[in-house]
Amino acid sequence: MGLLANFCSCFNNLLRRDGPAAADEDDGDGEASFGLFFDLRTLQIATNFFSDLNQLGHGGFGPVYKGLIPNGQEVAVKKLSLNSRQGIREFTNEVKLLLKIQHKNLVTLLGCCVEGPEKMLVYEYLLNKSLDFFLFDKEKSSSLDWMQRMRIVKGVARGLLYLHEEAPERIIHRDIKASNILLDDQLNPKISDFGLARLFPGEETHLNTFRISGTHGYMAPEYAIHGYLSVKTDVFSFGVLVLEIVSGRKNHDGRLGAEKADLLNYAWTLFQSGNALELVDAGLNNYNPVEAAMCIQLGLLCCQSSVADRLDMNSIHLTLSSDSFTLPKPGKPAIQGRVGRWSQTGSTLFSDKTKTTGTHTNTTKVSSGSSFVDEYSRNSISYSSMDEGR
Ligand SMILES: Nc1ncnc2c1ncn2[C@@H]1O[C@H](COP(=O)(O)OP(=O)(O)O)[C@@H](O)[C@H]1O
Ligand SMILES: [Mg+2]
Repeated sequence: MGLLANFCSCFNNLLRRDGPAAADEDDGDGEASFGLFFDLRTLQIATNFFSDLNQLGHGGFGPVYKGLIPNGQEVAVKKLSLNSRQGIREFTNEVKLLLKIQHKNLVTLLGCCVEGPEKMLVYEYLLNKSLDFFLFDKEKSSSLDWMQRMRIVKGVARGLLYLHEEAPERIIHRDIKASNILLDDQLNPKISDFGLARLFPGEETHLNTFRISGTHGYMAPEYAIHGYLSVKTDVFSFGVLVLEIVSGRKNHDGRLGAEKADLLNYAWTLFQSGNALELVDAGLNNYNPVEAAMCIQLGLLCCQSSVADRLDMNSIHLTLSSDSFTLPKPGKPAIQGRVGRWSQTGSTLFSDKTKTTGTHTNTTKVSSGSSFVDEYSRNSISYSSMDEGR
């Protein structure tokens, strides 16, 4: 047996009591014991040897496959195609932490596999895939009525509140976006890919960038430009997501013309002129105008350039769960983390760790072609962690 396999098997024996499906048992010492490791062989068979037919999608960290494990459970296997310099022990420690993070609005992580060249994460499989499949497809978006959209907004807020304030360790997600919101058979939202950045500190990715993980179009500028990370980074992305859910369109869509192409800008212009409800998805048969107005204002409040003025998840959650709302008037939205062509933003720019208060604006040059933006707004890029404490 190779050294790696040997290590895994020992570690596995330490951790596993009844196999991967039997996670979260209390073994008497107050600490839950977790089935952590899946055999590579089991996952090969489960995914039909990672066949293209089983591929659910492909993100910045690698492909995701649907699989069926021997206990009959459907799973999603995420292959992390990174040459992590991190040791197996550190990796498994992080996975162990993430296994403890459980909430109805977070996708359940079932375990991992560290045999072979790639590391893999095994998640529960969500039948309706991700929100982007519904929201940005004109035919399918009609199946998301207003009530469902509100449920999704509230569920995501609940999940983020848990990650920021209630989880055993604070987790800043860093990559909140429509394709990371998975939907179960009842269209309940579950945040996926939480903690992924924790697994690869210092990792370089396919974009040859480092230090920051996030997705263009959703990234707070103080993070995209200066690497300043805080819970408000997630709040910014959440604000963009809320505006996408209300409007049924992507944060950037060049086909809509200069005035409407940038969702944040457009939403802000409409809000200023008292016509915010024009933003609401025209494909919706009906909607609640009070809720819609609240969501638009809330979204803009989350995306303000002043980091301190952005709401926190606690007040967002409170606002969303109350019948009436009084919200401050939002300040100007920050320009999103799209900084023209990515190549402009070399490592020197990102090595500036200066904390900013978010007063810088207008640094964005919106790319004209939508294919570049589409590509970049789907794929995560990853940098190492900084300032991740509570
Ligand atoms: N647990 C899961 N259940 C069902 N579909 C999933 C699951 N995880 C990921 N997917 C699908 O695979 C796609 C690719 O996932 P990912 O690698 O996280 O990239 P991204 O989040 O950038 O789209 C997602 O957009 C989603 O549609
Ligand atoms: Mg994802």
